[in-house]
Amino acid sequence: MITVKNITKNFTNGTVVTHVLRGVSLEIPDGQFVAIVGPSGAGKSTLMYQMSLLDTPNSGSIFVDDREISALNDTEAIKYRLENFGFVFQDYALIPELTALENVTLLGLMQGVDYSIVKKEATTILESFNLLNQVDHLPSQLSGGEQQRVSVARAIIKKPKILFADEPTASLDSDMSAQVMKVFLDLHKKGQTIVMVTHEEEYAVMADRIIRVKDGRIIDDKMLKK
Ligand SMILES: Nc1ncnc2c1ncn2[C@@H]1O[C@H](COP(=O)(O)OP(=O)(O)OP(=O)(O)O)[C@@H](O)[C@H]1O
Ligand SMILES: [Mg+2]
Repeated sequence: MITVKNITKNFTNGTVVTHVLRGVSLEIPDGQFVAIVGPSGAGKSTLMYQMSLLDTPNSGSIFVDDREISALNDTEAIKYRLENFGFVFQDYALIPELTALENVTLLGLMQGVDYSIVKKEATTILESFNLLNQVDHLPSQLSGGEQQRVSVARAIIKKPKILFADEPTASLDSDMSAQVMKVFLDLHKKGQTIVMVTHEEEYAVMADRIIRVKDGRIIDDKMLKK
């Protein structure tokens, strides 16, 4: 369970202060698939960054289970994030010099896990994402949809408590978006908690719940009937 309590976030540029989050509170139970939607500039990405420890709110607090993650120091926060959160971004953020398989195994290798073990896990995930023939391709040799599925594989190999995705389909055409959404739905069926920011209503409705953000506040929060 992730609990956000009345967080605010301002950005200061010289004397100009922009209030991006104006008091946001929410709870996400384990296993839920949540879509965060809203107009451009509403604060969706900013909200996701605070929840996932990529940034620190100006006030308010964030708990995962009973632990106040917003109170962790920088070193603890990095460790917590690596061990508990997975990330998917609009631009895939793969390392261009590494193959699909190497991109997925890198984090495990950096943490000292035996290569044969990480390779086996990564191959199994890539196969389940229908990418077995592409494991040795560089990102430049993959379509956008394939790159994004590789980035999801990389995000989930450590079995994160929460998978965060910021506009995962925004760079993809509708066929490729559908493939990526299928991957998300399959992961969700297996119990993965997912927080997905999107401006595409057709993908938002695939989630269990839609949270609408506008001008730095939640203006609507609905469970969808399945
Ligand atoms: N690091 C920053 N410094 C200054 N302003 C920022 C920063 N990050 C975000 N903002 C501002 O905060 C507001 C909300 O940005 P955010 O990226 O959260 O919006 P969004 O809802 O994700 O929009 P989009 O749909 O375009 O991605 C915007 O006005 C943006 O310019
Ligand atoms: Mg955004």
